[in-house]
Amino acid sequence: MNFTDTSHLTSLPEALRESVRMVERSREDRLARTLRGETFPALSISDRKAWLNDFHPDQREDGKRPLVVGPGKGSHVPCEMADLLESRPRVSLNNLLKDTSLSKKADIVTDVLIIGGGGAGTAAAIAAAEAGVKVFVATKLRHGDSNTIMAEGGMQVADQECDSPVQHYLDVLGGGHFTNNPELVQALVTDGADVLHWLEELGMLFDKYPTGRMKVRHGGGTSRKRLHAAGDVTGLEMMRVIRDRAEALENITVSAFTPAVELLTDDDGRAVGAVLEQLTGGEPLIVHAKSVIITTGGMGRLHLNKFPTSNHFGATADGLVMAYRAGVPLQDLHSCQYHPTGIAYPERKIGLLITEKFRGLGAPFLNRFGDEFVFGLEPRDVTTAAIIRECQMMNNGVRTPSGGVGVWLDIPLIDLIHGRGTIEKEFPGRFKEFLGKGIDLRQLPLLAYPTLHYQNGGMVIGSNGGTDMPGLFAAGEVTGGVHGHNRLMGNALLEILVFGLRAGKTAAQFAQTTTLSNSPGLSHLSAFLEELEQENCNKEIIGPQLLPKYFP
Ligand code: FUM
Repeated sequence: MNFTDTSHLTSLPEALRESVRMVERSREDRLARTLRGETFPALSISDRKAWLNDFHPDQREDGKRPLVVGPGKGSHVPCEMADLLESRPRVSLNNLLKDTSLSKKADIVTDVLIIGGGGAGTAAAIAAAEAGVKVFVATKLRHGDSNTIMAEGGMQVADQECDSPVQHYLDVLGGGHFTNNPELVQALVTDGADVLHWLEELGMLFDKYPTGRMKVRHGGGTSRKRLHAAGDVTGLEMMRVIRDRAEALENITVSAFTPAVELLTDDDGRAVGAVLEQLTGGEPLIVHAKSVIITTGGMGRLHLNKFPTSNHFGATADGLVMAYRAGVPLQDLHSCQYHPTGIAYPERKIGLLITEKFRGLGAPFLNRFGDEFVFGLEPRDVTTAAIIRECQMMNNGVRTPSGGVGVWLDIPLIDLIHGRGTIEKEFPGRFKEFLGKGIDLRQLPLLAYPTLHYQNGGMVIGSNGGTDMPGLFAAGEVTGGVHGHNRLMGNALLEILVFGLRAGKTAAQFAQTTTLSNSPGLSHLSAFLEELEQENCNKEIIGPQLLPKYFP
């Protein structure tokens, strides 16, 4: 490299240029080591534990408080989440609350009601519809607007000769620090190959070699290469094909801009429908259903611990709020995933994702001196803790012009390892996006810092998506147990399909063996409100929140 030519640095502010020069000076040495097959040493188990304990945001006691009402009373959860779980119903329900018997008021009657139109909800809708029942999908924004379409790097499936579902199972359990529900992990890895095959049949364009063989990559914390991707827009491509399939099924109706804001339950304690708010105006809609599936996704837009997020604008924990009020147990809410590489610069993009696939192809983490400080494919929570440690304790982070901090991800190394053109081909989304902002990823490293990415905990489910409440099912990020306290990359896209399909099928079977309830109502809500009064909970907080606080 010609170190006197600095023309490629002109798109960067002065404050970052000297540090980039140090990254460039150490690059040749790192390339030589990579080509010799040497990697930065992995942390010992005891260092992993210590770094997690000292630096992972989940460990910050000031960010949590105990719940004082509901089935999780006494458990410590992030304050932002606790506030919402103990919030008051939305104002638009005031009139409905006076009438606890809503049996005559159905605007929509269906067999299966699905709340949420992202990846899990769409998969559930397809499975239920294919089982022969009538399906109504109520979605907060447009069909497909969700964390699924934000997913970049890939989906894990053990389909290679050197791999097996057993190997995948062990990786998932290890990555989750053995806090996962083994029955759910078994379901996840067992259905993997079928899901992959199904997506191929639907026309999903996976990355392949000219021979037709699937390209697979390493994710953090995995013992085998099993990440299947569509460039760096895997979730978007997945949603394209499953949404097409859902649209082709006549017994699915999708209702956009109509988020559910309350579940309906009946005198037998069964889930029998929901109240929907109409974001475009009008009175709330009442849906009566024989079974209900919650697939509302995660909570990144609550910005726990004031972190930025990689999540979709709709990720505001709505399903958790509705389920909790109805008495459905939640688990592991204290455990969230902070993805190691959110964008730290340019400032306008703070928190958006830089996929782990960059590290899977060899881009290392470097501090402001251009020195590597952690093996880039440690499990995610460990990598995140290592970055925070490097910036906060070691004071080796790179300061941005607006006072932020980050570490470098040396992306140009990828082309040097794998050949020119690799970055453009493997990361078409981010490559073009950054080029448009004057940042050429073939030439410049990117500044990254952890970003709130995923909710590890959620509704307690069984392996077919069933909950404690008869008639109520759930799938995807709104549930807990699959990943334990730490999810490995690529297992979320698999999870939404495996459990979405399972929940859809089971909810359809349930609907086929039951009749519509004649006592749908909100009595569970009255009981919950009484508890809130007794505990003198804050009356100003309204939930579900539906949109981030900074939306008007
Ligand atoms: O890094 C990524 O592409 C994220 C993937 C995931 O969270 O599974």
